[in-house]
Formats: sequence, structure tokens, C-alpha cells
Amino acid sequence: MAKLVEIKGTSKSYDGAKVIELKNISKSYDGERVLDSVSLYIRDGEFVTLLGPSGCGKTTTLRIIGGFEMADEGELYFGDTEISDVPAHKRQVNTVFQKYALFPHLNVYENIAFPLRLKKVPADTKRGTRKLTEDEIRDRVTEMLAMVALSGFENKSVSTLSGGQQQRVAIARALISHPKVLLLDEPLGALDLKLRKDMQNELKAIQQAIGITFVYVTHDQEEALSMSDTVVVMADGEIQQIGTPTDIYNEPKNAFVADFIGESNIIDGIMLEDKQVKFAGHVFECLDGGFDKNEPVDVVVRPEDVDVVPPDKGMLRGQVTGVTFKGVHYEIIVDIKGFKWMIQSTDYVEPDENIGLYIEPDAIHVMKKSKYSGKFGDYSSFSDEIDQLSNADTAEEF
Ligand SMILES: Nc1ncnc2c1ncn2[C@@H]1O[C@H](COP(=O)(O)OP(=O)(O)OP(=O)(O)O)[C@@H](O)[C@H]1O
Ligand SMILES: [Mg+2]
Repeated sequence: MAKLVEIKGTSKSYDGAKVIELKNISKSYDGERVLDSVSLYIRDGEFVTLLGPSGCGKTTTLRIIGGFEMADEGELYFGDTEISDVPAHKRQVNTVFQKYALFPHLNVYENIAFPLRLKKVPADTKRGTRKLTEDEIRDRVTEMLAMVALSGFENKSVSTLSGGQQQRVAIARALISHPKVLLLDEPLGALDLKLRKDMQNELKAIQQAIGITFVYVTHDQEEALSMSDTVVVMADGEIQQIGTPTDIYNEPKNAFVADFIGESNIIDGIMLEDKQVKFAGHVFECLDGGFDKNEPVDVVVRPEDVDVVPPDKGMLRGQVTGVTFKGVHYEIIVDIKGFKWMIQSTDYVEPDENIGLYIEPDAIHVMKKSKYSGKFGDYSSFSDEIDQLSNADTAEEF
């Protein structure tokens, strides 16, 4: 099956120790519940991404882990130790914010060295602590500069750097004190698309090179799928699904996840029995089971998994209402009994043409009904312009 989104994540399965665990964390602001019993653990060395639309509670979750915000209910563990009441500066975590918060009056070297100048290490000879020597600081800063590909930039003023270079300084500064966990809140949000892609690869490489745990926040599904070992999909202050990028894409738990990750046709169906589901007036063979007999379900079919065939060979028949050339494929909107499907095909079809659709059993994914049922799935109001406008809206918030 062709996949819409290129999945580059290593998707390792982690059996390492849990470094962070949230147990039933809830938080309200002004009587409004913004996190509702969030439970999640993060293992040593894992790249975990919190993904969800604006306002779903990603930053709040990250701020609770970082110690900048207190949960109303629930517990937060670091290893086996509860740290709910431990202040931010005593946690072994560091944060990179979207606005890098570099010191504008300090050069690149001094920005990165800053945390080390505050640091005390055990003294060798007598009891007590000492500051790091200038040589020790220089060694560490030089090492960090090489890692973020900024060797030679030591004496530059940070205000003369590009957005991507400033971000790399911020990352070097966050990593120089060797935190166990790095929290990153939309760290690439301010960068243009091309730079964003380059930085995604660089960040992932840095994370793998030093083997540190990353908790990353983004509302960009492609970024989440391509960088993470594990994706946590959030909506309305609740976790909707936790899984590898492939799981999240191929086996979405509910209509929200299916809609948010990639394009999907989400259709009302009835699970007649194991491996048999009826939707759009046709009984399909599928691979799913474990539902009640005749249980109402949501069915997801990805646009790239539908084959266009002559009408008499199709399991479903419909009329093409729109065709857009997308470079690699055509995006075809088909009206099937009043429900608009999106199909991606490399074969051209004429607008108004009647076509048949053929769907293999493994292209059908059956989900339980949820509070998100019926809210997504039809492409009747779909247009590229609307898509672009709503993307521009989102972009402006960052
Ligand atoms: N300090 C605060 N006081 C009042 N409400 C807040 C505060 N911080 C966050 N909220 C509200 O909590 C909800 C979740 O906010 P949060 O910042 O966690 O969302 P988010 O998922 O990070 O969104 P975005 O993608 O826009 O950054 C929002 O409705 C927000 O308005
Ligand atoms: Mg946020």
C-alpha cells in the first residue's frame, strides 16, 4: 500500500527504564478542565511527541513535566521518585521554548556557556563544591558547538544569526548541562518550511547521537510522524492514542485520530460479524474483529488505498465531482450516495465520470464509535483553498 506520509521514525520498541510517568494528571484554569486524567510514561532515550490541535493541552502537559505548572490532581514520577512538588530547577529536565530566549547581549559562546557558569561541581581535594574552570567550560562549549554544527561561530552576536542558527544555540545551551530529559515546545514553529525540514533531521540526529530522552510538542502531524519513536495524540485535554507513528497512521483508535493524521474517508458502518463490515450499502470483507454482532462502527479508508475501476467492476459506484493534479497523484472527489469520498490515484479520471471503487480487505480499518463519530470524514466541503486558509490561520498563531 502506498503511504501518504513518509514515515522515517525509527519506531524502536523501548524496554528501557521509565524516566517520566504521569498518572491521572488533571488541570483546570478558571474552572475549565484543560487536562483530564492524562496518564503516560516515557522511557529512557525515547523520542516522544505530544501531537494535537491548538488548545488541546500540549504545552500545559509539558509545563507540568518541567515544573513550571502544578497539576490539580494526579502524580508525576521521575524514575521511581514522585516529583510533583519538586521545583523546576531541581528536576533533571531542561526546556527549549519556541521563542528561544537567548541573551541578546551575549555572544554565541557565552550564551551556550551560561548554564555552566552557574553550575557547581564537587571539589576534588576537600569537601564542598567549586565552579568549573574556564578550560572545562571551553571544552564543553566546543563540543556542543560541533554537535549543532556551529563551530567557528563562538564570537558572533546571537542577534546576527538566522532563525535556524539561533535555534541551534538554544538547543546547545539546553543540552550543555547534560539533562536527562529535554522538553521541546514547538521548537521549529518560527522557521520556514525548508529550514524546518532540515532542523527536524538535525534534531533527530542530535537526539540519537547523545541518546537523551526528548519530549517534543507539535501540532504538525508530519513532523510528529517523521521524528518520533512514540506519538501521543491529544484532543480536548485527553489522550486519544499512544503508539508508534506506523500504529497511529495504520490503526487509528477513533475518528479524531484518523482525521487528524493524514487524509481519511470516515464512514458509518455496521460490523455484521468478525471480518465482515457493511458500509455505503455494500458488505466488505475486512481483517478486524472483536466487535458485537451488528455493532455500529466507524470505518476508515485512506484515499491512497482505494483502486479506481470501471463501474461494473466496482464494489461501490459514484460520480466524480472534482479532480486536482497533485504532482505524484490526482486527488479525486467522488460522490457515493451523497457522501463525498477522497481518492488518490495516479490514473486520470474525467470530472462527472462514473467510476467504480475497489477496496481490498486490508485497506479497511474498523473503529469503535466515539464522541468524535460523525464529526469528520466527508469531503463535501473540501477545497484546497479552504485547506490553505485554515493552515494560514494556524500558522499565524505561532
Ligand atoms: N495560564 C493559563 N491561564 C488560563 N488558561 C490557560 C493558561 N494556560 C493555558 N490555558 C488554556 O488551557 C488550554 C490548553 O492550553 P495549552 O497551551 O496547553 O494548549 P496547546 O495544546 O499547547 O495549544 P497550542 O498548540 O496553541 O500551543 C487552552 O484552552 C488555554 O487557553
Ligand atoms: Mg502550546
